[in-house]
Amino acid sequence: MTRKILVTSALPYANGAIHLGHLVEYIQTDIWVRFQKMQAKEKVSECWYVCADDTHGTPIMLRAQNDGITPEALIDRVHGEHARDFAGFHVAFDNFYTTHSVETRECANDIYARLKSAGLIERRSIEQYYDPVKQMFLPDRFIKGECPKCGAKDQYGDNCESCGAAYTPNELKDPYSAVSGAKPVLRASDHYFFMLSDARCQSFLRRWTREPGRLQAEAANKMQEWLGFNDDGTTDNKLTDWDISRDAPYFGFEIPDAPGKYFYVWLDAPIGYMGSFRNLCDRQGIDFDAYWKPDSPTELYHFIGKDILYFHALFWPAELEHAGYRTPTGIFAHGFLTVNGAKMSKSRGTFITAESYLQQGLNPEWLRYYYAAKLNGTMEDIDLNLDDFAARVNSDLVGKYVNIASRCAGFISKKFKGQLSDVGASPEAAWLMPLRDAAETIARAYEERDYSRALREIMALADAANVVVNERKPWELAKTEGENEQARNALHQICSQALEAFRLLTLYLKPVLPKVAEAVETFLGIAPLAWSDAATPLPAGHIINAYSHLMTRIDPKQIAALVEANQESLSPVPEAAPRVAPAKPEKVVPVPTQVSEPDGAFVNIDDFMKVDLRIARIIEAGPVEGADKLIRLVLDIGEEKPRQVFAGIKSAYDPASLIGRMTVMVANLAPRKMKFGMSEGMVLAASLDDNNSGQKASGIFLLSPDDGALPGMRVK
Ligand code: MSP
Ligand code: ZN
Repeated sequence: MTRKILVTSALPYANGAIHLGHLVEYIQTDIWVRFQKMQAKEKVSECWYVCADDTHGTPIMLRAQNDGITPEALIDRVHGEHARDFAGFHVAFDNFYTTHSVETRECANDIYARLKSAGLIERRSIEQYYDPVKQMFLPDRFIKGECPKCGAKDQYGDNCESCGAAYTPNELKDPYSAVSGAKPVLRASDHYFFMLSDARCQSFLRRWTREPGRLQAEAANKMQEWLGFNDDGTTDNKLTDWDISRDAPYFGFEIPDAPGKYFYVWLDAPIGYMGSFRNLCDRQGIDFDAYWKPDSPTELYHFIGKDILYFHALFWPAELEHAGYRTPTGIFAHGFLTVNGAKMSKSRGTFITAESYLQQGLNPEWLRYYYAAKLNGTMEDIDLNLDDFAARVNSDLVGKYVNIASRCAGFISKKFKGQLSDVGASPEAAWLMPLRDAAETIARAYEERDYSRALREIMALADAANVVVNERKPWELAKTEGENEQARNALHQICSQALEAFRLLTLYLKPVLPKVAEAVETFLGIAPLAWSDAATPLPAGHIINAYSHLMTRIDPKQIAALVEANQESLSPVPEAAPRVAPAKPEKVVPVPTQVSEPDGAFVNIDDFMKVDLRIARIIEAGPVEGADKLIRLVLDIGEEKPRQVFAGIKSAYDPASLIGRMTVMVANLAPRKMKFGMSEGMVLAASLDDNNSGQKASGIFLLSPDDGALPGMRVK
């Protein structure tokens, strides 16, 4: 039977940039999907790859508030950035959608309704910390206080970064809200629970997590622990019911029969896989139900990081099973990325965004190759060692693989008008047999996600090809081919054979290096390579096109520049955490809500706080062609990418004198497209107001902070 496969990668949160850690997953999945799509239709008739942004939840709501925009505007902007980054690394989703969609809402409502009618949803009142100033319930991560174990200050509500203790927020000493700084109070509220402790869920999960193929061995073991299997064969019910609702204010889907209650983001996130696929099906006429009905013969795989295994291997299959859908065929978890042996770090410059990698001009296929060389289908962490990265790519891809073509193509073009000789069954061509026969074992390695094994085999074949070329020395043959017919023949043979070897190696590398493969297909003048093409050599007389260089070496300087660029982006406001200043309780500014004021004469503190003023360092300043009054400024405000601003201060300042100076900018002014480029904010300067002074402004005075202020500091 032909396979029909639906593949997903985890949905990235819509409040942060894609970084090299994320890319481990998306590249891993993309390679697998590209491999499947190269299979003959009789083997794999369909393979769909869907993803989406994960858009709901408190951090996204607060981040948007903090940026002075709606959550919808935030997730729209981030969606564009994510799509750009994925495309930049050749991650080719069939659909990259959003969980904030009609389709996901409908699927979520449907699953909820079915679980409810199965008797697996229960409403219960629970007590939780509530922020009386911000007027919202606080997720654990937004409550801080003193660690109950070691007394370290400013620890999160769920675990201590100092001593590693895990606890509940109620155990923290002197808790305060990380949103407003206020002291939280315990407050009761009704929540909806998915009854994971129900005997049906338990017995289902005990069976499901042990079925062959569902989970990797390490993951299955973890699950047995979580499910309460004891060594003596007895079991405890360790599964507790799962709280799937959150109170308003919340950015998400309101629960149909429960006004003011929202689905918890982790309830609708995996349902976003369905929503994205539904959207694709509606656009392309694919049969959605065929993929999601119980016992569907289609295959469903989720690629995820090991940190979110719990959600994918317990909650998600239990939900699907009891809502009357199929469950995943397999969950493929991978480990975490380290850079130079350590966690990615902003201060070391190893927290590298996808965008900055590409902006620095590094080739995305270098990274795809390196990751593939490290990925072996287990949950082990993988290390990006930057020295090894350069060495490996240069030696394997440039030194071994590309080298074969670059040494032989020129002779074919120059001496044989681009025409190949027969590379069929002659004894001289026998060395190509193992290359052709390897199609099967390499395919098996890809299928098993052991890309490192696949690439080892491919590079061994490239080595063998280079050995043959070295032995037959085409450059020597070329010296005598003019007078010597035999030499001419031998030259034609070896170069044609080498190009046939190169075609096979390209085919095998194509899931990893899709753009190189495309360029090779053009160079060889062949149709897009599919897996079965391994069996069909280039025919005698086939004409190739002129060779142009396929891949450059990595210059270690490029890597140093990349690290430096990411070091510079060191932000005083942590990027990964929501950008809310974690004020201490004593620092809370009382909000003067009841000041009465004549219309328009005052703004209140909330209005003022909407303006995001930041300390900025001027890193570039120059004239703007066609605009005498303007200076183009590039400002560092501690973000990954500096901002460009056009300021009407040319009459008062020489651009060169501004470079290095600190000033203040409005960071959340909506970006504006001007004739000269995007304007991404505004700098503050004092001047006489020319409409009420009668006289022309006599000067412009740029604001500066006192010494010590750093780029990115908030001005308030
Ligand atoms: N939104 C959730 C997933 C919901 S899936 C229904 C989430 N988002 S995430 O942006 O934090 O991560 C997306 C994926 O990238 C996850 O599978 C995560 O494990 C993976 N990675 C994020 N950082 C990573 C590394 N440093 N290394 C390897 N993978 C990493 O989790
Ligand atoms: Zn502690």
